Amino acid sequence: MMSEKKNKFYIKTWGCQMNVLDGDKIASLLESSGYEKTNSLDEANIILLNTCSVREGPENKVFSELYRLKAFKEKELEILGVVGCVAQQEKEKIFQKAPFVDIVMGPRSIMHLPELIKQAKYQKALKVSSDEDTLLFPPEILNRNSKTKASITVMEGCNKRCSYCIVPETRGREVSRPLSSIIEEVKMLIDRGYKEFELLGQNVNCYKDGKNNFVDLLDEVSSIKGVKRLRFITSHPKHFPIEAAKLIAERNNICKYLHIPMQAGSSRILKLMKRQYDQPFYLELIDKIRKIVPEIALSSDFIVGFPTECEEDFEETIKCVNLIKFDTIYAFKYSPRPNTLASKMESVPKNIAKERLNRLLVTQHEIQKELFQSFVGKTLQILLEGESKKGNQYTGRTDCNKIVNFTSEKVLKINNFYNVKITRSLVHSLIGEL
Ligand code: 5AD
Ligand code: SF4
Repeated sequence: MMSEKKNKFYIKTWGCQMNVLDGDKIASLLESSGYEKTNSLDEANIILLNTCSVREGPENKVFSELYRLKAFKEKELEILGVVGCVAQQEKEKIFQKAPFVDIVMGPRSIMHLPELIKQAKYQKALKVSSDEDTLLFPPEILNRNSKTKASITVMEGCNKRCSYCIVPETRGREVSRPLSSIIEEVKMLIDRGYKEFELLGQNVNCYKDGKNNFVDLLDEVSSIKGVKRLRFITSHPKHFPIEAAKLIAERNNICKYLHIPMQAGSSRILKLMKRQYDQPFYLELIDKIRKIVPEIALSSDFIVGFPTECEEDFEETIKCVNLIKFDTIYAFKYSPRPNTLASKMESVPKNIAKERLNRLLVTQHEIQKELFQSFVGKTLQILLEGESKKGNQYTGRTDCNKIVNFTSEKVLKINNFYNVKITRSLVHSLIGEL
């Protein structure tokens, strides 16, 4: 029985694109070190939880999952590991809270995992990441789960100190990869058949490798033959360079889509959040971007119920959402994070935050419904991402990041571009025909 299970690992990932890519890196590294991936908990002798701590919700899920997995440790599970942001945040405290855990490893320490697994056979293994840890991961061994979009880490960490955010603590200070290594990786991925690329960084506009800045990065990568679509995430309003908007307008292969979190409409709240911009600055920036790229699709994150937020503050968020008309927003209830400035401020009652979140979502729902409706009758180019088991039902994504579900009598190929006529719209997706 034991030998059958030997060297099989199971990994579960929560959180942002960066964490998803880290999950791919971990799986690839273990596979290249002789371990085999399994999708069955029962089969695995190594289970890894790749965690997110940006809000309390996902963090709590990690602990409830750990207690569920305790039963596996009591049977044949050899190694249970917590990696990623919760690991970095809680460090050895995880061993205290859950003594049956064997490995705790921060998000920048992926390359150490094989040795930690060996160590964990004899004793608890702890590796906390530091800013000196390398961002370089051997690109030739990295197999991405997505066969249509290749995400690439270009920088990691964040030097901002937004008062609510745990990320600077878990992902460390900003470190950028040399542009040459990014270009090499993109070229290798083109040879493997990828057409769409996404440059990842917590504060991607602050990319800086000594010689090149974010605009150079966009310019160079979009100039590589074979890059059919290029995206980047996440932008910061204070650091988004307007030259980047010019490149988006000029280059057909840079997607006309920008995720640029506003977080709140009220300038008073933005100041408490330490976002380093106010409402007029954000609105002007969006104006400038839209003058250069009128058709750009915009998305944003918002936090509601930030400490001391009153009705008037919240109405500023609603006002901005109505004014800007984002294509999508991601809205969250404020969640206090350990050792952050905001966690010491006066909180807003939970029921009020919940009610405000609902109001914000209803407001966006109406805007989005109308916006998506305006695509009906148009023909859009999509990159095919998936097909239904029955065939003839397909799903893809537009340049502006909208999901399109459509039918085709012809058999289509994943990772190819097709033109789809939009016949109907829903709130979060479009429906069409080839
Ligand atoms: N509470 C609620 N939302 C948060 N975010 C980051 N920190 C918190 C927090 N403490 C949100 C922000 C960010 C997104 C990734 O998560 O909106 O842009
Ligand atoms: Fe967190 Fe602010 Fe950095 Fe974004 S910019 S990761 S919200 S500290």
